[in-house]
Amino acid sequence: MKKKSLQEDIVDVCLRRGIIFPSAEIYNGPSGFYEFGPVGESIRQNIIQLWQEAFVNAENNVYEISGSTILPENVFEASGHLESFNDPLTQCEGCKSMFRADHIIEEQVGINVDGKSLAELFDIIKEKNIVCNTCKGVLTMPREFNMMFSTTIGPVSDKTGYLRPETAQNIFLNFRRISHSMRAKLPFGVAQIGKAYRNEISPRNFLIRLREFEQMEIEMFVDPDEINNHTYWDDIKDFEVRILTREAQQKNGKPKKMTLEQGITDKIIHNQYMAYYMFKESLFVQDLGISEDQFWFRHLLENQTAHYSKANYDLEIQFPFGIVECIGLAYRTDYDLIKHAEKSKTNMQINVPGKGNIVPHVIEPSFGLNRLVYAVLLNSYISEGREWTWFKFPKSIAPWEALITPLMKKDGMDETAENLYWDLKDQGIDAIYDNSGNIGKRYARNDEVGVPFCITVDYDTLKDETVTIRDRDTTEQIRVSMDEVGSIIRELILEIITWEEIKEETEVLNENTE
Ligand code: ATP
Ligand code: GLY
Repeated sequence: MKKKSLQEDIVDVCLRRGIIFPSAEIYNGPSGFYEFGPVGESIRQNIIQLWQEAFVNAENNVYEISGSTILPENVFEASGHLESFNDPLTQCEGCKSMFRADHIIEEQVGINVDGKSLAELFDIIKEKNIVCNTCKGVLTMPREFNMMFSTTIGPVSDKTGYLRPETAQNIFLNFRRISHSMRAKLPFGVAQIGKAYRNEISPRNFLIRLREFEQMEIEMFVDPDEINNHTYWDDIKDFEVRILTREAQQKNGKPKKMTLEQGITDKIIHNQYMAYYMFKESLFVQDLGISEDQFWFRHLLENQTAHYSKANYDLEIQFPFGIVECIGLAYRTDYDLIKHAEKSKTNMQINVPGKGNIVPHVIEPSFGLNRLVYAVLLNSYISEGREWTWFKFPKSIAPWEALITPLMKKDGMDETAENLYWDLKDQGIDAIYDNSGNIGKRYARNDEVGVPFCITVDYDTLKDETVTIRDRDTTEQIRVSMDEVGSIIRELILEIITWEEIKEETEVLNENTE
């Protein structure tokens, strides 16, 4: 039998263990839509929480909002999406399969064709003999395909609405309301977590190219004269990042490590605000368990930079099947506010004391939640060393903090375990209870979804009120008193103590018995 690839393994465990399911699976739903099951939803919420802590709560000038996902046509006329948010679509003359012209060229002959016109793409298709992936048929001249999903608003209406292709637009639309109501002074940011929709021509690679996905975005509004005067510059300037420079890309080179200060001095990083977000993004991605050598920032070439942006740095992660942009970072300038001011005849200025009214510039970090979830799954997945596969999720994003379980469902162990479960929940521990199957199977199931600790109630518990804690990463067990188990779990999760330290203080049982 053919060995499954890592990606196939992950998809399989996601289906079996309640992590991620295809949408409308029982009707063989369309591709590009996935849903989070109970385990996946817990991981998703933990990642969102980590993001909110780092990008909203840890700052004193970032406000979070939640906007509508359907917006009227004039929003996207102004933003330029109606005209420019297009991908080149080519079709097989034989079997009628549809392809993104740039992607099929890249796949078949490995050349990057970003920025090429439709006619140039067609020339390459003919010259390099690019054919249909399905039936080897001839491909048509590519045409522009707008990726926004449209709908009509109201029952009998000619009002067209669009599902937003990015969360950002609501923030620009609300700029005036937010700046007034919050009495905000520049610089300040507005954050939003929510759904975005793109009618991708060929969704693929599980969570990478979806038609409905989630973004976590910030629009940081800044006085353009202060763009190189970030409050925390002295604290972050020596931080090192890896950047795939424009020069390196032209020579097929590798990402280069440099301090943020060097990046600014050498004119590789456009400004201090972008450098600040490179610093924050790097820490965040590492908190998700993705190591430093697996990601870098790619300075997009001029012809790859979006119509609204003056500079872009994509945080790219190495996946087993290729390199994927997971976080965009764009210098959107005053493009969007000016476009909306013109179209809606609304004043989008803000007062800068001593200077007067200005339209601020915008720095935008844009995180794709689903791609990050996939990166976490791939990076945490371990298929060797045990009879079952398991996820070594960072403790802060694991679906639960601890499993509570009785050794057996008899002699009062199950009641005691259930009481302990409720007690730990009251103490704020994100616990889950399981008493089905045998204890070995429960440990295996628990590892499979990456829960870091298992607390077992056994016969000794009934005698001396102690329980065991099993560590997911080592499979070692220690015995502690029931009174203390909640605070020990809390300290382990928050990494106030390590497993090695707690082992020194307690009785270690049957090490690595599985
Ligand atoms: P790509 O070039 O891979 O299509 P993009 O440049 O269109 O990506 P952006 O427009 O910069 O992506 O969107 C910001 C973030 O939103 C991306 O970094 C990514 O994480 C996420 N994202 C964009 N499109 C999709 C999609 N179709 N499915 C899942 N996530 C997406
Ligand atoms: N808001 C940036 C993007 O979605 O492209």
